[in-house]
Amino acid sequence: MLRSVVISSLILGLGVNYAACQNEFDYIVVGSGPGGGPLAVDLAKGGHTVLLLEAGDDLSEDPVYDNVGRFAEASNDPRTRWDFFVKHSDDPEQELKYERMTWRNPDGSFYVGLEPPEGAEQLGIYYPRAAALGGCAIHNAAVFHLPSDDNWNSIADITGDDSWRAPEMRKIFEEIENNHYLANGTAGHGFSGWLDSNQNSGSWLGNTTDGVELLKIIAESSGAIANSSAISDDDLKALMNKDINGPEPDRDQSTGVFGMATHVDAEGHRFSSAKYIKRALEENPDLPLQVRLNSFLTNIQWDQLSPDQPPAVMAIDYVVGQSAYKADPRYDPGKNTTAGFSWVGKELIIAGGTFNTPQILKLSGIGPAEELQKHNITVVADVPGVGENLGDNYEGGLVSLAAEPLDGFSNSYVVQLKTSVSEGNRDIFLWTMNGAFEGFWPGWPQNYGPTVLGFPFVHMDPRSANEGSVTLRSADPFEPPEINFRFFSGEDSEKDLDAMLEAVKFAQNARDLLPASSGLAPWDEQHPCTGDGADCSDEAIKEYLKLQAYSHHASGTAKIGSADDPMAVVDSRFRVKGVTRLRVVDASVFPKPPGAFPVLPTFMISKKAAKAILEDAG
Ligand SMILES: Cc1cc2nc3c(=O)[nH]c(=O)nc-3n(C[C@H](O)[C@H](O)[C@H](O)COP(=O)(O)OP(=O)(O)OC[C@H]3O[C@@H](n4cnc5c(N)ncnc54)[C@H](O)[C@@H]3O)c2cc1C
Ligand SMILES: *[C@@H]1O[C@H](CO)[C@@H](O)[C@H](O)[C@H]1NC(C)=O
Ligand SMILES: *[C@@H]1O[C@H](CO)[C@@H](O)[C@H](O)[C@H]1NC(C)=O
Ligand SMILES: *[C@@H]1O[C@H](CO)[C@@H](O)[C@H](O)[C@H]1NC(C)=O
Ligand SMILES: *[C@@H]1O[C@H](CO)[C@@H](O)[C@H](O)[C@H]1NC(C)=O
Ligand SMILES: *[C@@H]1O[C@H](CO)[C@@H](O)[C@H](O)[C@H]1NC(C)=O
Repeated sequence: MLRSVVISSLILGLGVNYAACQNEFDYIVVGSGPGGGPLAVDLAKGGHTVLLLEAGDDLSEDPVYDNVGRFAEASNDPRTRWDFFVKHSDDPEQELKYERMTWRNPDGSFYVGLEPPEGAEQLGIYYPRAAALGGCAIHNAAVFHLPSDDNWNSIADITGDDSWRAPEMRKIFEEIENNHYLANGTAGHGFSGWLDSNQNSGSWLGNTTDGVELLKIIAESSGAIANSSAISDDDLKALMNKDINGPEPDRDQSTGVFGMATHVDAEGHRFSSAKYIKRALEENPDLPLQVRLNSFLTNIQWDQLSPDQPPAVMAIDYVVGQSAYKADPRYDPGKNTTAGFSWVGKELIIAGGTFNTPQILKLSGIGPAEELQKHNITVVADVPGVGENLGDNYEGGLVSLAAEPLDGFSNSYVVQLKTSVSEGNRDIFLWTMNGAFEGFWPGWPQNYGPTVLGFPFVHMDPRSANEGSVTLRSADPFEPPEINFRFFSGEDSEKDLDAMLEAVKFAQNARDLLPASSGLAPWDEQHPCTGDGADCSDEAIKEYLKLQAYSHHASGTAKIGSADDPMAVVDSRFRVKGVTRLRVVDASVFPKPPGAFPVLPTFMISKKAAKAILEDAG
């Protein structure tokens, strides 16, 4: 094998012919998102040579990305976008009822809506992802939320690996967090890790009458306080800064108003793995970490040591050049890429995210044998769970227009609710805005003007949401896979809809309690009910939610499981079944959606994997 000196620098991947500098690394990590990025750094800090391969560019210092408030702009930016178009069901008729269905016009532009022009091609439901240093953490809303203890404990129960128990995972959180919103030393948090966290300060109080009025109503109706007319501004401020990630034993059951924590640093700049990677290279120019941007993995090469041993990873093939993947809006079949190749010294870690990780595994021969054979892919290991168990958080919301403009308040706090169908833990995560968040489509969001009042919510404990799949359309590594979430098709989907119905009613009630003196009523509801209130029965609301729910927290397509679970893809140490020297470390490993928001749990498993890999390296 060729061994070359590892240069610790950030290679921008432009004009460099990697085919000419073949090399070997102890570890190769594919994908620099919350799963792969920190892991690559920690393995290099552990003294191993590491290559981090990332399909996208580095835009982490561009103001569009640095300022979390611009995340809608960031997620619409063609410089980082990977456009996926997904299905929510197997029923083509149902798909056509999705109000933001996206089509390609004959002239190449998008049409979004229910009445496509003649000749338009149906693409599907838009699902945003970022290809960039830092992965989706570079363009997300940065909401920073720990899952329930049950989320972690269930992984320990399934695998028998007690290092997944909630108290152990809390220790990992404390180790990686660099908290900027609590007093240094506050129990349950970390203050010297690499993962910056911050919180909206609540400084808007006193500026907006409507916002304060609504907060009081919500505080009372969510059970956070008994009597809102008696509450002082200071108490209200304390309420909306209540720590959402504290270690209280009843945290997972407690409801009411909490601060909106985000992965943002002390000065308000977005944190993502891009920052951790770049800081690590600045602090130690000799760190044995090499980052190759605009480098897209296409295949894993196997070493069949002997017939009685499992196949072992030997090397990887990739292409170097911008926009190689067809999900990239800048993709151009006429452009040139160069071939890349690297030897894997110890292990390969795939962290391409929930859609790309199963695609990479399948293209490289790991997946359901029947599906691979259909595409003439040599089966290296028949692992039927690859690409299955796709899950997500269902999302919905109430959007209404007031009779007069609201006085402009930002979405600076969170409301957590425990519905009557919850399994004991709070199950709805809701927020308010003088704006609307209604899911994703090219060019989102819709601007309803200053009269809009929105209550978006996330179902944080969905029971029926792991029925989806990611399957190959072809053996072409550049063609995005077929993605179908099969929303509300699992057992207990009625309960998930009931929980969401309660969230809608909570929001409608809060809106209707706004005093007449505010001049906001009468409200013109946009959805789930329509302005004239023609059909606002529980059944009609549930039908609306069933057809129009959206999501953007995909997980589960390479799930962790026990050795005897045929659908498990990785074990509790992230090792892929049926082969050696291969792990998966990203949001695809979660057996169930990890709470309301996946980014913090994914950062946590990145650290957990670094520990496991360094331990196994001896
Ligand atoms: C618009 C939006 C808003 C969101 N808001 C929030 C939020 O507020 N809070 C929250 O908790 N979560 C949020 N999420 C979800 C969260 O960001 C993701 O769950 C998280 O980033 C997943 O991390 P990951 O490491 O699994 O994958 P990703 O972040 O998707 O990273 C995967 C990386 O792998 C690279 N890659 C893929 N294939 C290849 C290949 N073949 N070769 C080389 N590189 C490859 C990609 O370019 C990408 O950089 C949001 C997501 C989106 C899209
Ligand atoms: C918090 O205290 C620890 C221990 O004294 C210190 O290492 C760390 O830098 C402090 N963090 C902040 C953000 O002040
Ligand atoms: C709210 O008012 C305070 C002063 O009363 C001011 O400092 C602050 O900038 C205002 N905030 C907003 C969001 O307008
Ligand atoms: C709430 O507080 C106000 C002001 O102190 C008081 O007048 C009112 O009776 C209280 N309401 C209830 C239901 O206790
Ligand atoms: C690709 O490379 C060929 C041969 O070097 C060159 O003629 C062509 O212009 C290149 N195309 C692009 C889009 O750069
Ligand atoms: C697979 O190979 C067979 C035999 O060479 C060929 O007939 C078939 O078209 C191939 N299928 C695909 C999907 O490439």
